[in-house]
Amino acid sequence: MRTHYCGQVNESLLGRDIRLAGWVHRRRDHGGVIFVDLRDREGLVQVVFDPERAAMFADAEHLRGEFVVSIKGRVRRRPDGTENPHLASGKVEVLAQEMEILNRSETPPFMLDEEDVNEERRLKYRYIDLRRHVMQSRLRMRAQIARALRHYLDEHGFIEIETPMLTRATPEGARDYLVPSRTHPGRFFALPQSPQLFKQLLMMSGMERYYQIVRCFRDEDLRADRQPEFTQLDIETSFLDEQAITAVMEDLIRDLFKQVLAVDLPDPFPRLTYAEAMRRYGSDKPDLRIPLELVDVADLVKDCEFKVFAGPAADPDGRVAALRLPGGGVLARSEIDECTAFVARYGARGLAYIKVNDAAKGRGGLQSPIIKFLSEDAIAGILKRTGAQKNDLIFFGADKTKVVNDALGALRLKLGQERGLAENTWRPLWVVDFPMFEFDHEAKRWVAMHHPFTAPRVDSIEKLNSNPGRAVARAYDMVLNGSEIGGGSVRIHRTEMQSAVFGLLGIGAEEAREKFGFLLEALKYGAPPHGGIAFGLDRLVMLMSGAPNIREVIAFPKTQTAYDPLTDAPGEVDEAQLLELHIRLRLPQAAKGGEKGEA
Ligand code: AMO
Ligand code: AMP
Repeated sequence: MRTHYCGQVNESLLGRDIRLAGWVHRRRDHGGVIFVDLRDREGLVQVVFDPERAAMFADAEHLRGEFVVSIKGRVRRRPDGTENPHLASGKVEVLAQEMEILNRSETPPFMLDEEDVNEERRLKYRYIDLRRHVMQSRLRMRAQIARALRHYLDEHGFIEIETPMLTRATPEGARDYLVPSRTHPGRFFALPQSPQLFKQLLMMSGMERYYQIVRCFRDEDLRADRQPEFTQLDIETSFLDEQAITAVMEDLIRDLFKQVLAVDLPDPFPRLTYAEAMRRYGSDKPDLRIPLELVDVADLVKDCEFKVFAGPAADPDGRVAALRLPGGGVLARSEIDECTAFVARYGARGLAYIKVNDAAKGRGGLQSPIIKFLSEDAIAGILKRTGAQKNDLIFFGADKTKVVNDALGALRLKLGQERGLAENTWRPLWVVDFPMFEFDHEAKRWVAMHHPFTAPRVDSIEKLNSNPGRAVARAYDMVLNGSEIGGGSVRIHRTEMQSAVFGLLGIGAEEAREKFGFLLEALKYGAPPHGGIAFGLDRLVMLMSGAPNIREVIAFPKTQTAYDPLTDAPGEVDEAQLLELHIRLRLPQAAKGGEKGEA
């Protein structure tokens, strides 16, 4: 039906007869002539219908947006002054000789070039939404990225292997999606949160280097960069330590950026320890494009009469930190209030600040509600340590360390973005030396910071048990422009250590056998040292394509409530199906109507 794509029609085809097939993007009637912008996946071209061909012209009058047509016509130069510099085909047009309407379309629910279409509507009519140029190019880039990653891994001896979707729970910190078993009444499969245990078993199978582009399922609170089902580039290797693994993995990502974006990423990637990242950026996924940093000032204010500062300064779990905003003196009172409201979302009970009108004048050159509480030494120390200059603004956070890090870390990003401070570049890094465990104060127990199969840096179980809170994991995260794009670790490959870690996590011997018996068993038969990583493919594509969230780079994503407006999934099932699965529903009152997307 076609000899050329619309977007490829240009001056090289002048005078040629060609055939096109595609969608009517727009139709305009001008002084007895009809113009149609015809669209296919490669772009647009203008087709002209001349009233002299009366029958075809009459048909063309019936064309509406999104009709599917095939057209034969001659390429000619557009008259002077009517060229469109925004179109690849903008210097030419096609004079129609024949036209066939292949299919009609009802008036679409939105126009393709309409902006700000409600997202749920876009998802309900995703097949129309995906006709838009920007969506087509994102999905193409996604394919290109997957191809480049596969190519690199294939060249470097990695073997692509599939692992089961119907499996047992793999703890990655989220809730499982469960699948009831018909043949085993009362039992459930879990969809994998990741292929973690299978890839470790593949190392025990002697595969040495595995990868898989694989769907993972996590029932967790959704955000801009999270989906209930998402795609990982999952990788595992044997006989490599963390230095060797991270070296190959950053080379993979460097190669990807070179191939797809023609961008040279740094070699090597910089590394920050977890502790340093938290101290300087209040985050374990710092956006290094933003030049603002947190500075500790607890020692300077621990004796001051301002309880808000002195309290956390003396608390071993507390932190008092300052964040200097260069030129921030221009912020109006209302803008500072807005920042205070913003940090409150992270649990901060206030946001003290000092406006530096003139640093040289000491106390007299400063403006602040808290200045009266601070000694000369404290003020001098704060100005020196933050490097404050005339017209700067210094914000303070004082609270439990976690609250200060969350609040000032988020404020740092907000100020950096809103005030245009972020460099326009790519800033990858590794964050390393994560703690093995975090103490969950609510549940009163240790939880694994990465996952329970991550190896501690110490070799001896005694050392690990003596102070779990200080144990460092052989784990690493790859961070790019403030997004965690990948995470991995060297794994435990000895049964005793694995049992010890389960023990610390409160997983008793019986439960460990029940849930992970197969792993503990496999570790007994010659498990090699091994380790790996998983990249969030959706996040990578989002960043590389400049999309605002990961739904924009997934063909058929779910909404923020894990609902699909297109197929209306999740759906109800009939009684017979439930019966076969040995399931009786116990719905909460409100959900009985099967309310869409909320249940
Ligand atoms: P982790 O849980 O860190 O590690 O996941 C790896 C990467 O997957 C991405 N990611 C997500 N992307 C979209 N939506 C989600 N809900 C989501 N959750 C995670 C992130 C993250 O860095 N088995 C380990 C890997 C390993 O140890 O080798 C794992 O799954 O980019
Ligand atoms: P107050 O004495 O509560 O009026 O607070 C004086 C100043 O300290 C105000 O600017 C508050 O926003 C700020 N402030 C209060 N609590 C904190 C806190 N935990 N961390 C930082 N600043 C705070």
